[in-house]
Amino acid sequence: MKKSDVVKEILAGRRGSANPVGQAEAPANIALCKYWGKRNEELNLPITSSLSLTLDHVGARTEISQCSSGDQIFLSGERLDSDHPFANRLSRYLDLFRQGDEGYCVKTESSVPVAAGLASSASGFAATVKALDALYGWKLGSRELSILARLGSGSACRSLYSGFVEWHVGEREDGMDSYAEPLELQWPEIRLGWILVSTAHKPVGSREAMRRTRESSPLYQSWPAQVARDLAEIKAALSLRDFTRLGETVEANALAMHATMMAAQPAILYWLPDTVAVLHQVADARRQGVSVYATMDAGPNVKILYQARDQDRVVERFPQISFLCG
Ligand code: PMV
Repeated sequence: MKKSDVVKEILAGRRGSANPVGQAEAPANIALCKYWGKRNEELNLPITSSLSLTLDHVGARTEISQCSSGDQIFLSGERLDSDHPFANRLSRYLDLFRQGDEGYCVKTESSVPVAAGLASSASGFAATVKALDALYGWKLGSRELSILARLGSGSACRSLYSGFVEWHVGEREDGMDSYAEPLELQWPEIRLGWILVSTAHKPVGSREAMRRTRESSPLYQSWPAQVARDLAEIKAALSLRDFTRLGETVEANALAMHATMMAAQPAILYWLPDTVAVLHQVADARRQGVSVYATMDAGPNVKILYQARDQDRVVERFPQISFLCG
């Protein structure tokens, strides 16, 4: 099955006339239990479920209109060449939605650096699909938008909602049961901060990194079982508001994901010396009684999980922190 078949099925009977412009915003999300590995690369179908926290104040804003002379893609006001990786990837995604040979003018502003492992593709594709929905007036439901966003980037399916969000692994070949949904619980005192180590483009994209890990890392065999355990632990910790249990599991899950990639051949090592330094700072802070935990995605930057009541102590220890959530 191809992406275009999924789009056709979801948009059956919905193709209408375009409005002059469609505009939308979508937040970034950070996985507390990671998605790492696809069972279907074409449709971005995952091997495991995953669970994230949405960053309500960080993300992408996208405006789309039709234009006659090919695609014109602007990122933060700058027109990108058509062979720019971001523009190219977006144009291939937009191909799924063209009704004829029209082009699109897309203007995207992102409050996170692109391709540095800071969830920029998640908010970018979620905002794009919502902007297309507004442009064409489809009025799709969240589940359908989540599936369409997944076709752009897996983690984008979680960027349709606020709060804690679970992406269900699903089992169907067409992926119609692989979408995200919000959990019915709130924990407003949870905070996420971000320690910037580098904004350089990552040496290996997450698609290639996942493939290589799955195909060559001996440690990957244990990953699905670890995710099943971690997901259950994280959900239990969230519903009991047990922060230590949450933080310990979140950090262990992220480190295990990186361990699977380091054991791939050739190894995938996103960490820089400062990444390791920050991880040690986090462990030191804990030894001295500050309840903070780290998580990391496909890049060298570290995100820090803590509670509102520890805000001052966290800022004192991590003066370079930027706030992502709360
Ligand atoms: O959605 P992608 O292809 O950018 O992959 C995201 C992978 C991680 O950020 C490392 C984990 C996750 O669940 O977001």
